[in-house]
Amino acid sequence: MKIVFFTGAGVSAESGIKTFRDSNGLWEEFKIEEVASIDGWKNDREKVLAFYNARRKQLLTVQPNKAHKEIANFQSENLQHKVVMITQNVDDLFERCGMEKIIHLHGELTKGQSSMCPTCTVDIGYNDIKIGDKHEDGSQLRPHIVWFGEAVPKMIDAYKAIDDCDIFVVIGTSLNVYPAADLLYQLDLKCKIIILDPNVNELVNIRPNIYKIAKTAVNGIDEVIKMLYEFTQEN
Ligand code: OAD
Repeated sequence: MKIVFFTGAGVSAESGIKTFRDSNGLWEEFKIEEVASIDGWKNDREKVLAFYNARRKQLLTVQPNKAHKEIANFQSENLQHKVVMITQNVDDLFERCGMEKIIHLHGELTKGQSSMCPTCTVDIGYNDIKIGDKHEDGSQLRPHIVWFGEAVPKMIDAYKAIDDCDIFVVIGTSLNVYPAADLLYQLDLKCKIIILDPNVNELVNIRPNIYKIAKTAVNGIDEVIKMLYEFTQEN
């Protein structure tokens, strides 16, 4: 069977990383257009670099939580199934649990990229990017983040990943940001959808075959894994 996880900021919230749109989320403290848009980068590079340098520094201080670990375990214990992760998150908490086949739709904090070529990336670990740091093509190094106003190159991989998907598991995303949220609307009707999010009932009821768990990622992950074993054994 093909099982695709689709995660957002909520899966890392209990590790101590703020979500974006919850009350007290990052977009209350910072203006999206200033720190996470291509126009923001053109207007004030220092401000944008400082924002992502702070996110990267914080990432070094947090740890994967039970949800990251159980999802990674599920993948390694179910090699007979194709288990893929599509995440909007730019942290590396799934990688730290040994998870493989991760599509980072919105980029990765531990990588920098050329200002001229979005797919020309370099590993930077948890180090700052400073004005004057250059990609080998000579352009200013920038965070490997897909900003508002930019294309999402990994959407092609994501659409391929959901093709023929049997179970789609959504965890901790407000489904506010497109094109990422469009994935939900492209699934086959036969695909079962599990949604784990404390605010799940506010999410649109798009079709039958949706199983909702209104809990946090850490508190609800056991239920998700149990459902996955039930669904995969039914088949
Ligand atoms: P949001 O901040 O929009 O949504 C977070 C979701 O997580 C909400 O649905 C919350 O109810 C849920 N949530 C909060 N705490 C949770 C917990 N402990 N366990 C499970 N769920 C919890 O974050 P995203 O949907 O990920 O893009 O945002 C999508 C994109 O918008 C991000 O990738 C980012 C942002 O702007 C860029 O910066 C390019």
